[in-house]
Amino acid sequence: MVLRRGLRWIYNKIVTNTQRCIISILTAGPVPRHVAFVMDGNRRYARIHGKEVQQGHMEGFVALRRVLDICLRMNVHCVSAYAFAIDNFNRPKEEVDALMNLAQSKLLELCNEGDLLDEYGVRLNIVGRIELFPKALQEAIRKAENMTRQNNKAILNLHMAYASTDEMTTAIEDCVKFGLTHNIDPDTYFTQEEIDKHLMTTAKGSPPLDVLIRTSGVKRLSNYLVWQCCQNTQIQFSSIYWPDFGFWDFIPIILDYQRKIWSRRISA
Ligand code: FPP
Ligand code: MG
Repeated sequence: MVLRRGLRWIYNKIVTNTQRCIISILTAGPVPRHVAFVMDGNRRYARIHGKEVQQGHMEGFVALRRVLDICLRMNVHCVSAYAFAIDNFNRPKEEVDALMNLAQSKLLELCNEGDLLDEYGVRLNIVGRIELFPKALQEAIRKAENMTRQNNKAILNLHMAYASTDEMTTAIEDCVKFGLTHNIDPDTYFTQEEIDKHLMTTAKGSPPLDVLIRTSGVKRLSNYLVWQCCQNTQIQFSSIYWPDFGFWDFIPIILDYQRKIWSRRISA
């Protein structure tokens, strides 16, 4: 028993040090400023392991912490994650309630003093139609965001009750209202830059999206950051279910990003 524990300790030390070493080598090169995740596959993960759906989402949250920790150690400035689509309200009530409860407890935990966001100086933004959530979750969101309001080293966007089409429609509505109240000539005002500025994700301080990763083998954007996936965004599909996604799945994606940046620089 003692021997096994000792061996596990040595194994963990080797893994931690290897990861630390790889991160320091990679951060000597170009690192994406904004990485987004479509955290897909929680229910299929639960099913193949004979677990409850709720357990799949719970382990999805553990994966989010793990991946966020890796990104922050690599100096990624902004991490976005699709935590709840507006469409997800159509799922069975039991699952939606479980996700609401999970968000309510875990958001505050994440922002606690000494926890991940505090340690790395990360500001939490909940991006989406927060008013669609139960009052208790809205309150937890307000509290969690306030707890990190002073942090300015990095950003975590959790897109909840979010849809790209809703984000774009709202931005255009805001632009129209602003233009009308300020009597601005629409011909000069309705530019791509102006609409971009009014998007909820941009308004919360996010830089352009460099890398978007979707797990679980599904190859769609599912109404996530559709505007932000521009010409230079690297879209990456991984066959791993989200709760299993980790360091060794993420590193090849970063290497690919670096290869593309270098080849762009050479051909420029
Ligand atoms: C998609 O997998 C995942 C979700 C709809 C929920 C994502 C939520 C988490 C990872 C929990 C962490 C977030 C917070 C803020 C508490 P799926 O349910 O579509 O699974 P499937 O593709 O296998 O059906
Ligand atoms: Mg899914």
